[in-house]
Amino acid sequence: MRRLPPAVMLAVAVVAALGMTRHEPPPEAPPVVAPAPVPSAERGHALVQRDCGGCHAVEATGDSDFRPAPPFRTLHDKYPLESLEEALAEGILSGHPAMPEYEYAPGEIADIIAWMKSLEARSGARRPGG
Ligand code: HEC
Repeated sequence: MRRLPPAVMLAVAVVAALGMTRHEPPPEAPPVVAPAPVPSAERGHALVQRDCGGCHAVEATGDSDFRPAPPFRTLHDKYPLESLEEALAEGILSGHPAMPEYEYAPGEIADIIAWMKSLEARSGARRPGG
């Protein structure tokens, strides 16, 4: 039998060594908990347009269709948005008899708050006189 060239011998040795040191299969991986979805101001915007926009101004500008309903961009003047988050979570958002109560899933609330925060950020950027 013909002697193999050294390079081939080396390759065979490397493959054999790799084979011997091959790792055991990893132990059973822990169950993956789906991460909470990242709050999306876009989705929040769609939600408030659908559910609140009939009365409230939900955009960065404009007046409410239903005059007594405060535009959303002014809400943070009165409340920290965290308290709105709590109110939404508990389904007790009933600031006015004309206003229906809503119940949202936590993800939807996070989306709505994200939208409110984006309004807060924008209106904060052009506070009168500042
Ligand atoms: C049918 C009309 C209507 C709809 C729909 C509506 N609102 Fe209102 N909302 C009102 C009115 C009117 C007020 C003013 C209450 C007052 O000043 O006493 C108000 C007030 C509020 C306030 C402030 C409460 C306060 O004490 O100042 C928040 C916060 C609010 N609404 C959030 C929402 C959200 C979030 C939605 C959608 C999920 C929504 N509203 C949908 C009519 C509505």
